[in-house]
Amino acid sequence: MTARLAILGPPASGKGTQASRLAERRGISHVSTGDLLRAAAVAATPLGQRAAPYMERGDLVPDALVLELVEDELQDAAGFVLDGFPRTESQYAAMDVPLDEVVVLDVPEQESVRRVTGRRVCPEGHVYHVDHDPPEVPGVCDVDGEPLEQRADDREEVVRRRWEEYEDQTRPLIALLEDEGVSLGHVDGCGHPDEVAERVAAQVD
Ligand code: AP5
Repeated sequence: MTARLAILGPPASGKGTQASRLAERRGISHVSTGDLLRAAAVAATPLGQRAAPYMERGDLVPDALVLELVEDELQDAAGFVLDGFPRTESQYAAMDVPLDEVVVLDVPEQESVRRVTGRRVCPEGHVYHVDHDPPEVPGVCDVDGEPLEQRADDREEVVRRRWEEYEDQTRPLIALLEDEGVSLGHVDGCGHPDEVAERVAAQVD
């Protein structure tokens, strides 16, 4: 059965962690606009070059650029788990496919800052945390042996700016989805990732 799911939430609420588990369990694609934008920036495509300064500041990337990137992914007939999309009312309005279920991961801002400062990523996008989810060998990706690094936007002042964008742009979208009767549930994003995954499964299954 097609499943068009979306996971929203503030910075480091665990969207990527939970979306990737859910997509694997359902056998559908995991579509992260953050990952797509970072890949475009690293590849220095024209779109990536335009998006990069917004991401470095912690501002949302203009809707037109994000929509261009995500357009093809939304046509996947098998379904998908969207991670961090839509984030604005106009991104939602531009979608021409319905959402079956939206999960909003809730975490306090202080927890988000704590997670971000300990996050380490490999160039292929595998994600760790120095305390909560460390690699077997410090500084080295378990999957592909690549060196781990900090994301350029994982500085405290940039995370605080990402929070402001969440409050200003994404919270009103969540209210709109609730008003429109889209099936949407808030899930506590605190606790072990396995516990959060159980709460997410209870919400979407
Ligand atoms: P994006 O990459 O989506 O950034 P974000 O929303 O700030 O979210 P994060 O990637 O920081 O965190 P996450 O919620 O995925 O958590 P994760 O699972 O990694 O976007 C980056 C930028 O791109 C944006 O600022 C914007 O500029 C642009 N952008 C993206 N989408 C856009 C859109 N639709 N429109 C416009 N602009 C857009 O976990 C975080 C850390 O915590 C990891 O280290 C993880 O191991 C750890 N962790 C996870 N779960 C737990 C847990 N339960 N307990 C303890 N630690 C945990």
